[in-house]
Amino acid sequence: MTQEQEQEKDQQQEPRAHAPRFGLSGKLLVLTILFVMLAEILIFIPSIANFRLTWLSDRIAAARTVALVLNAKNDGAKGEDAPGTAEGDSFKLPDKVIEQILDNLGAKTVAIKMGNQRKLLAVNDMPHEIHHDIDLRQTTMLHAVFRGMQTLLLDRDTDVMRVVGDGIPGSDFIEVLISEGRLRAAMFRFARNILLLSLIISAITATLVYLALAYLFVRPMNRLTANMVSFSGDPENPTRIIAPSLRRDELGIAERELAAMQRDLASMLQQKSHLASLGLAVSKINHDLRNMLASAQLFSDRLINVPDPNVQRFAPKLMHSLERAIAFCQSTLSYGQVKEPAPDRRAVLVETLVIDVRDTLGLGPDASVRFIAAVERNLRVDADPDQLFRVVLNLSRNALQAMEGRAPIDPGRDQLRITGQREGAVVVIEVSDTGPGVSAKARAHLFEAFQGSTRPGGSGLGLAIAAELVRAHGGEIRLVDGTIGATFRIIIPDRPVEIGARRGERARA
Ligand SMILES: Nc1ncnc2c1ncn2[C@@H]1O[C@H](COP(=O)(O)OP(=O)(O)O)[C@@H](O)[C@H]1O
Ligand SMILES: [Mg+2]
Repeated sequence: MTQEQEQEKDQQQEPRAHAPRFGLSGKLLVLTILFVMLAEILIFIPSIANFRLTWLSDRIAAARTVALVLNAKNDGAKGEDAPGTAEGDSFKLPDKVIEQILDNLGAKTVAIKMGNQRKLLAVNDMPHEIHHDIDLRQTTMLHAVFRGMQTLLLDRDTDVMRVVGDGIPGSDFIEVLISEGRLRAAMFRFARNILLLSLIISAITATLVYLALAYLFVRPMNRLTANMVSFSGDPENPTRIIAPSLRRDELGIAERELAAMQRDLASMLQQKSHLASLGLAVSKINHDLRNMLASAQLFSDRLINVPDPNVQRFAPKLMHSLERAIAFCQSTLSYGQVKEPAPDRRAVLVETLVIDVRDTLGLGPDASVRFIAAVERNLRVDADPDQLFRVVLNLSRNALQAMEGRAPIDPGRDQLRITGQREGAVVVIEVSDTGPGVSAKARAHLFEAFQGSTRPGGSGLGLAIAAELVRAHGGEIRLVDGTIGATFRIIIPDRPVEIGARRGERARA
């Protein structure tokens, strides 16, 4: 690897190796706190409403006691003494005491309703205006929640509310006028306490949840990520493969799968670099071999001039063998060195291409093999013309070689047939012959480089290259089963078209 490449690789890996700034743990902590707070709010609102109701009920209960005392005293006074006597007045509670009682209650007045009559039992300060009417005998929770928030957030301390509750025996109801100041103060105190408590609870819960999740998930996840980062830094190093823990949960499965994947990858990479160095060695050997063979060819050229009949008989065979050997070396070398460029695709007229192939192979009307082209009229394929030509030429040459190779039974009937047709978005081209068909031995590694050949002097590269070129077009090449001789089918799909772009083109045209 050159230094530049190495630098590039380092740069690519650098951002991956850094721990994320706002990692899983941070997100987890923030989310836990948020959710616990949310839950606390859901509890907070109804408890405030409840607190208000309890506070008001307490006032009514206390007022009821006051009313019982005051009412009994008045009734007693009425029953035993004539109204207005000095003795009757002596039972009356002093104004000061009533004032203290009401102050204690936080009430301005206490009244009871009996039949059509409203009886004012105690008055401390008669308000001019009543702002809110609250009937504790009929209130729903929803209303209470709504009113609770209103009291806390919208009302003023000086507002006066008229609170109605179940009365003392003999009355319809009891009614107390209270200013809101005390209620609101109490509610604020309660809210503050509950908020404080919520904060403490959420802090504790968040910490516990965080610790548990960090231990159960984040830590093993971090281990996985750290291992992936370290492995990708040196994937061929088997010591970097993760050692799976014995966990039985999903993370355990992930660890084991990762370990298996890393093992596969590591061995694949080792194999690949092994093959690469082998390939390098082979091409070096090949190169030198080709040069040696070329010198041998030079010498053997001179043999032609030796008049010895034995030499004359074997010299052409020797030369032919050398030529084949040199060609073999050459094709092996070029396969190893040349990476096929990406296809330069355009609409190619298949008929012309097929005729080019025929002419290149020299299959005129008087050739021993009959050449038949059955291509749809004006059939166009979306392909690189040179590459597709090489593919079809390779297949046709193989077909000719297969037919040449066997004893001519009836040469007149040997034919090479190329067909082409469109099937929707793909073009199908078939090359068939009437030869002996592909042998089982050749079929086993048909499209693999250096492996498929069964021909003496064959390299086994023709079909491998053809397959590579067709695949670069997103297409497919395969041997068709069950035909006389051999039939190879090539499928080349059209490139997908963006409709928007097409419209633009049409508009411009
Ligand atoms: N049309 C065909 N008929 C019979 N056998 C074929 C045909 N085409 C290819 N083969 C078999 O496939 C093998 C591989 O072909 P190829 O990859 O072109 O390599 P090569 O031509 O160098 O042997 C051939 O050796 C031959 O056995
Ligand atoms: Mg071939």
